[in-house]
Amino acid sequence: MQASAAWQPSTQVVWRNLDVLSQAQPLLVMNPPELAGWAELNESVPCLFFSQDYRVSQAFRQQGLEIEFAVLPSPEQWQMAEAVLLFWPKAKELAQWLLGLLTSLPRELPIWVVGEHQAGVKSTPKLVEALGGSCYKQDNARRCSLFQLELPVAQPFSLEEYWRLDAWQLADQSLQVARLPGVFSEQSLDKGSQLLLDHLFLPQQGRVLDFGCGAGVLGAYLKTKCPSAEVVMLDVSALALEASKRTLAANQLDATVLASDAWSGVGGRFDFILSNPPFHTGIHTDYAPALALISQAQAHLNPGGVLQLVANSHLPYLEWLRQHFSKVQVDAETSQFRIYRAWR
Ligand SMILES: C[S@@+](CC[C@H](N)C(=O)[O-])C[C@H]1O[C@@H](n2cnc3c(N)ncnc32)[C@H](O)[C@@H]1O
Repeated sequence: MQASAAWQPSTQVVWRNLDVLSQAQPLLVMNPPELAGWAELNESVPCLFFSQDYRVSQAFRQQGLEIEFAVLPSPEQWQMAEAVLLFWPKAKELAQWLLGLLTSLPRELPIWVVGEHQAGVKSTPKLVEALGGSCYKQDNARRCSLFQLELPVAQPFSLEEYWRLDAWQLADQSLQVARLPGVFSEQSLDKGSQLLLDHLFLPQQGRVLDFGCGAGVLGAYLKTKCPSAEVVMLDVSALALEASKRTLAANQLDATVLASDAWSGVGGRFDFILSNPPFHTGIHTDYAPALALISQAQAHLNPGGVLQLVANSHLPYLEWLRQHFSKVQVDAETSQFRIYRAWR
């Protein structure tokens, strides 16, 4: 099978090296960035798929491919794998814990890491060395590298060591926030989210959606201020969903947390939708979720319902909002961010 130039560069590099990568089977593919080619490949090289991204998982399932969507691969996948291919994530700290996880494989297997140079894959040798392993470069093309790793195996691994729970000041409220490397605003509250919290519309009741909830700061704050509201929180990332659940639990708050690629996993209408929408997928700019939020929000709002969001001022959201809503206002503005509000 030929790699397509339309595929992501790291996927193209995998396809150039299929003969080596497919020597041990099944190959556990962790966090593939896209569906590209896997369905065809799976017919000749049995693979196990694992993803922390709901969008990718849905694409696989729509093609009839089994994939686990979770924070960690299941013990069954871990036992069954005869080789592992890890796609390098955007955040170095997430890469660090994923590599740590690989040291808990039950036995020695071929382990591969592939990723883009601009995402930091070149730090693989250093991180692997810190874990007591070694690696060599198998390929270097399309501004990507593919490494083969030798890691100590059967090591204890506990994800709990990477979770943090800290009190953060959210506007006028102190709340416990659960954080994990790989979840948005892992280090500190995002300045855009902070501005939104400072100007947040607070409906005293009704159904509220936190679109792209990350660690759950917006939804949890709203639920604290408006206990009668029914809060729903969605995100595409398994790590974000787990962080949101932990944030809610730590503050004794009750809300529904849903896996969803934009609107794909959510039903019914809302009285208020709030968001600090993403404009990146991995390291690449991606306006699709924000555009889906704005262009389809009307269909998910009750009459009189409100959409409020924060965005970097340079993003064309005001124009998009005006295309889809007859009433739009700017609630607040700094040199970097704007808070928009629109009414159905
Ligand atoms: C800018 S962060 C905001 C997180 C959180 N609301 C906050 O204010 O800290 C955007 C969030 O959207 C999520 N996201 C990205 N693409 C998405 C999609 N297609 N559907 C749903 N959520 C998505 C990301 O995982 C991330 O948690």
